[in-house]
Amino acid sequence: MSTVDRRDYTGEGLSEADLAPTPLQQARLWVEDADRRGAERDDVPEPRALSVATVDASGVPNVRTVLMRFLDERGPGFVSSLDSTKGLELRANPHVAASLTWPSMFRSIRFRGVFEQIERDEVADYWSSRPWGSRISAWASRQSRAVDGRAQLEAAYDRYAAQYPDHEDPADVPMPDFWAGFRIRCTEVEFWGGRRNRLHDRLVFTAVGAGGGASAGDVASHPSLDDAGVWAVARRQP
Ligand SMILES: Cc1cc2nc3c(=O)[nH]c(=O)nc-3n(C[C@H](O)[C@H](O)[C@H](O)COP(=O)(O)O)c2cc1C
Repeated sequence: MSTVDRRDYTGEGLSEADLAPTPLQQARLWVEDADRRGAERDDVPEPRALSVATVDASGVPNVRTVLMRFLDERGPGFVSSLDSTKGLELRANPHVAASLTWPSMFRSIRFRGVFEQIERDEVADYWSSRPWGSRISAWASRQSRAVDGRAQLEAAYDRYAAQYPDHEDPADVPMPDFWAGFRIRCTEVEFWGGRRNRLHDRLVFTAVGAGGGASAGDVASHPSLDDAGVWAVARRQP
């Protein structure tokens, strides 16, 4: 890059006094702000785009972006294929980190924790809300595997479209067994607010109380994101 972009971050930041009592409440406030801004202006095109980092069998990091489809006291969640690269990596090593980033708002949230599969009936509700074509594409794609060309993908789409024709009924297309909801059971949630002169705010909730774990990697603990007693707040240097 030949030009250095020295844009100053003029966000409001985030103070301890303004921080919501739980990570869930704070995350919901920021996600709702991003949704609202996305609806009003064109500088937040996918407010729920979530970057999800995993590690492969050799401990080498991997990352991709999905859409956050769930957010409740059990953690943020998304849908994907269990047999995809991310699915295989998370089933072998459940440690996961993810971030929502809204550059135009000078805000980001980082989640760290472990993968848990979302209950199938919750995912089924979401599945039936998807447009017919998206449900057909889920069947047509063996996500992350090599394919000889686009024509092969389109032929698979046509095959499943013929098998499960569109009668405008959610039951037209069954949910594939490999299609699943992925939840991040968080042990750490960081809120980052960009401020002037790079003197940003970083407030971090770490699970420490009942049900909380000592580290972001504690697989056994499943702290509620909406239980203020479980979380300690600390400020980190920017
Ligand atoms: C904005 C955006 C949203 C996406 N949403 C999803 C999603 O919700 N689920 C999904 O499986 N892939 C989604 N993808 C595709 C993933 O980034 C990725 O290519 C795919 O999941 C395969 O990743 P993997 O091979 O690492 O498993 C999205 C990509 C972008 C850029």
